[in-house]
Amino acid sequence: MDKAAIERAKEHFGKILEAQMLRMERVKSAPDWIDYGKVSPIKVGIIGGDGIGPFIAKDASRVLHFMLKDEVKSGKVIINDIQGLTIENRAACNKPIPDDVLADIKKYHVTLKGPTTTPRKGDPWPNIESCNVAVRKELDLFANVRPVRVPKQGIDWIFFRENTEDLYALGPYGIEVDKDIAIDFRLISAPGADRICRLAFEHAKKNGRTRVTCVTKANVVKTTDGRFLENFYRIAKEYAGIEIDDWYIDIMTAKLIDEKRRRDFQVMVLPNLYGDILTDEAAEFQGGVGTAGSANIGKQYAMFEAIHGSAPRMVKEGRAPYADPASMIRAASMLLGHIGYAEKGKNLEMALDICGQYEKKLIVTGRPTGATGEAFTDYLMETIRDPKLKSRWEGYVKG
Ligand code: IPM
Ligand code: MG
Repeated sequence: MDKAAIERAKEHFGKILEAQMLRMERVKSAPDWIDYGKVSPIKVGIIGGDGIGPFIAKDASRVLHFMLKDEVKSGKVIINDIQGLTIENRAACNKPIPDDVLADIKKYHVTLKGPTTTPRKGDPWPNIESCNVAVRKELDLFANVRPVRVPKQGIDWIFFRENTEDLYALGPYGIEVDKDIAIDFRLISAPGADRICRLAFEHAKKNGRTRVTCVTKANVVKTTDGRFLENFYRIAKEYAGIEIDDWYIDIMTAKLIDEKRRRDFQVMVLPNLYGDILTDEAAEFQGGVGTAGSANIGKQYAMFEAIHGSAPRMVKEGRAPYADPASMIRAASMLLGHIGYAEKGKNLEMALDICGQYEKKLIVTGRPTGATGEAFTDYLMETIRDPKLKSRWEGYVKG
């Protein structure tokens, strides 16, 4: 037995614990929610990203400028591009976010971000941490909020995926103990579980949702999922009147495809990795990950993005102009709601439903067989401008 390897691993683990205990202090003493009603100007940054990112970001930016044109004119909102969050720059400095880009990001209250390439072992890039994950941790964006709606099928889900803990917290800090054993660490904290569960219940309460479901695998992963679930039930006590239940992740993935049961789910709250997986599955009902947006929310900052990756293959095959910008535009609609323009966000969402799910005058397929992202965005903006947008949407939804 290699005793020295065990000692090295113990020392490494000790350092992890020290860093995480310091993080706990920061989480517990973090300032409270920023009030956008009192912020002027609200600063919005747009990040292109890698692969298809700059293509779909261009369309999303066009939509956002259009939706906020009066506010930008009056100086209430500032929208700027943030440059430099590319895989080439990250590889050059061997960091998930170059320092100057991070400093820039922190100058904005909210960002709308294109997908960024996440290197993995064997890629031509250094195996640095995912930039998405690093931004979430740096800005303490603890909630990844992912709605999936398919009105035709009665699906109206919203997932509250914990965004800073679980296997992601220490993703790059596993231990290659020796040539046989590799270990990663999974971390769930009480303050971490607390704040995500509370946000899910608050959302339910404010939006008239009547049920919140917790998803874990606490029967097997007893310590960490056990803690998550324990906190869920503790927080639930403060929200009498909201129905609660909990499911294991395996059966949950099955129940999402059970037509008789899936409409019953409303708000779901779950640890990071289960949330990552379940939200890709859920998005598929809505038309795929290309149609789903997400909000990474913290008390001070927020970042809005597509739920998918940078699709380098599409770029290589010359298909980037055919990438679907709907994911990032949906993220833009969440951004609007987050900074206090709920009605604008709702209008944009209705236009996305009309163009992408009902009317479908133009369909983006990701290939030259379909429309370009730019043409789809033109169609979308024409739809938003329609003064009868709401009744047109209601007509479709009510069938
Ligand atoms: C997502 C993505 C990211 C994640 C990747 C790109 C690191 O899959 O936002 O769901 O795993 O969180
Ligand atoms: Mg994912």
